[in-house]
Amino acid sequence: MIDAAPIRAWDNRCMVDVVGEKRRAAEAAASLVEAGMSVGLGTGSTVAELLVVLAARRLEIRCVATSFETEAAATALGLAVAPFGAIERLDLAIDGADQVAPDGWLVKGGGAAHTREKVVAAAADRFVVVVDSTKPVPALRPPVPLELLEFGHASTLRRLEAIGPVRRRAVGPSPDGGVICDYLGPVDDAVGLAAALGAVPGVVEHGLFPPALVSDVVVGTGDDVEWRAVSTR
Ligand code: 5RP
Repeated sequence: MIDAAPIRAWDNRCMVDVVGEKRRAAEAAASLVEAGMSVGLGTGSTVAELLVVLAARRLEIRCVATSFETEAAATALGLAVAPFGAIERLDLAIDGADQVAPDGWLVKGGGAAHTREKVVAAAADRFVVVVDSTKPVPALRPPVPLELLEFGHASTLRRLEAIGPVRRRAVGPSPDGGVICDYLGPVDDAVGLAAALGAVPGVVEHGLFPPALVSDVVVGTGDDVEWRAVSTR
């Protein structure tokens, strides 16, 4: 049977090889990894490509994973994954994204891992985002993932409704027991929305990542990669 899933995006010229673009972006980012580094690993299908490329390089590195899925896949490939409790900083973190705005704002959390992903990104000296060409957008749009503390989450949801509509996602709890939801209202003002969502007691984390957190975005574009510098950290 032919698996048509890898080719699923359509542009004006031709069908786009999305998986190939993810792989090329992952390969480019993996070239930043050097022996002796501590490396944060994100979550998702682009990171899955990264793990394969990274494992093939057989470098002596120490990794931190943002999800059980990434930890299992990395370990199976022979990468050394350490618990993140006692590690104060990382040299580099590499992760995917659901949307990349022209000014470097990201929406993340399609895989419900955005809380751990943000903690890992913030701990890294350099945070590199790897995406295929379907991810850059002219303007951010909903959904914006949310993780809520399970304690009192019905009350938290009620408060969030004052900002905009929120829907509970049909997935299990986060690795930290959080309730995963999606904010569905307007996202035109990312700064204001991030502040408003983050100010609601019971919101553990939202999926808006500011440009100040993002060092580089590597976009797989056809047979090539486009490297965008976003901020110096
Ligand atoms: C997981 C994420 C992912 O990085 C995001 O959903 C992109 O995933 P993919 O690489 O599969 O397109 O934020 O929480």
